[in-house]
Amino acid sequence: MIRSQETIDLLLKRRSLLAGSLVPPGPSQSELETILRCGTRVPDHKGLNPWRIHVVDRANQDKLHAKLPELHEGDPASLEKTNSKEAKTAPLLLIVSSKIESDKAPQSEQILSGAAVCQNIIVASAALGYRSQWLTEWFAYNSKVKALIGIPEHEEIIGFIYIGSEHEPPRERPRPELSEIVTKLEL
Ligand SMILES: Cc1cc2nc3c(=O)[nH]c(=O)nc-3n(C[C@H](O)[C@H](O)[C@H](O)COP(=O)(O)O)c2cc1C
Repeated sequence: MIRSQETIDLLLKRRSLLAGSLVPPGPSQSELETILRCGTRVPDHKGLNPWRIHVVDRANQDKLHAKLPELHEGDPASLEKTNSKEAKTAPLLLIVSSKIESDKAPQSEQILSGAAVCQNIIVASAALGYRSQWLTEWFAYNSKVKALIGIPEHEEIIGFIYIGSEHEPPRERPRPELSEIVTKLEL
């Protein structure tokens, strides 16, 4: 096994950066391939490879974002909130979904494996010096957005992962004390 203090340091310090604050440069083609390889090397019950990833460059993000207002349903406040967060300069967006076609493993586990893909993408991006943010807002749960992207209705979108560089580093945010969330089981 490889011991890597750098990996531990990265995990202890990793912070997201608001999608709307991400700027170029983004990952090169070979860095993107590394991110995708890391992303898809995740625990996966029954080896179903249930995940899919759509790669969205800047030009196609603009096209996608331009269509969101007409696809939005429900509470107008959620659209307004999204507009204020819109990633206008993020070089790269990866949309991670899970096919959940098979019943060999529980569907929830296929979604959880997709969540592991999202996290590995975020960690690999950070290891290459990029920032990212995982968003779902309303658009991850909207049938018309799925149709626009080409994701069938029964599939679940797990994350819109925006990736790019920082103009300014994010501030630290408080984390819970381990004692608040960790309990030693004594039976
Ligand atoms: C499944 C999932 C969905 C999320 N969706 C949103 C979202 O729609 N909007 C948002 O502002 N943050 C969202 N977040 C939170 C951010 O991705 C990020 O975790 C948060 O800003 C805290 O930053 P940190 O990763 O540095 O702790 C989501 C996180 C997860 C795990």
